[in-house]
Amino acid sequence: MIRYFSLFAALTVIALSLPVQRTFAEDEEFVLNGKAEDGEKVYKQFCVTCHGEKGKGDGIGAAALDPKPADLSNPDFINNLSDAHIYKVVKEGGPAVGKSMFMAPWGGILNDQQIRDVAAYVKTLQNLE
Ligand code: HEC
Repeated sequence: MIRYFSLFAALTVIALSLPVQRTFAEDEEFVLNGKAEDGEKVYKQFCVTCHGEKGKGDGIGAAALDPKPADLSNPDFINNLSDAHIYKVVKEGGPAVGKSMFMAPWGGILNDQQIRDVAAYVKTLQNLE
């Protein structure tokens, strides 16, 4: 009986620690590998409507949105998102990270490199004048 219990306990510990370690490792190992210069074009074509020229969330499409698009130029906001998170939300859309569905998934429109490039670009919006 005790033997079964410790086996069960050991399996539970393993089962509980696996998913946590996996997400942690994914975030740690993720390399964005994006070129912000190329991402700027993508951003101006696909993201400005909602996020605005400088990322402030004041694009023409933003007025009707609730919640409003995030202020991507705010360092306190964007620097708190990991590269893996930004990549995921751009590729899979808001709901994939528990955010609004008005942040659409771009994975069907942009190729993988374009997603990486635009993710790199949004991280530079905080440096715009
Ligand atoms: C139709 C309007 C719309 C367009 C177009 C759009 N977004 Fe968004 N985006 C949103 C909204 C709304 C949010 C805020 C979601 C929330 O806070 O629930 C958001 C949030 C984000 C966030 C923050 C995610 C987070 O976890 O808080 C990033 C990064 C982002 N968008 C990048 C992009 C990029 C890059 C593009 C262009 C490829 C883009 N968005 C195009 C509406 C849009």
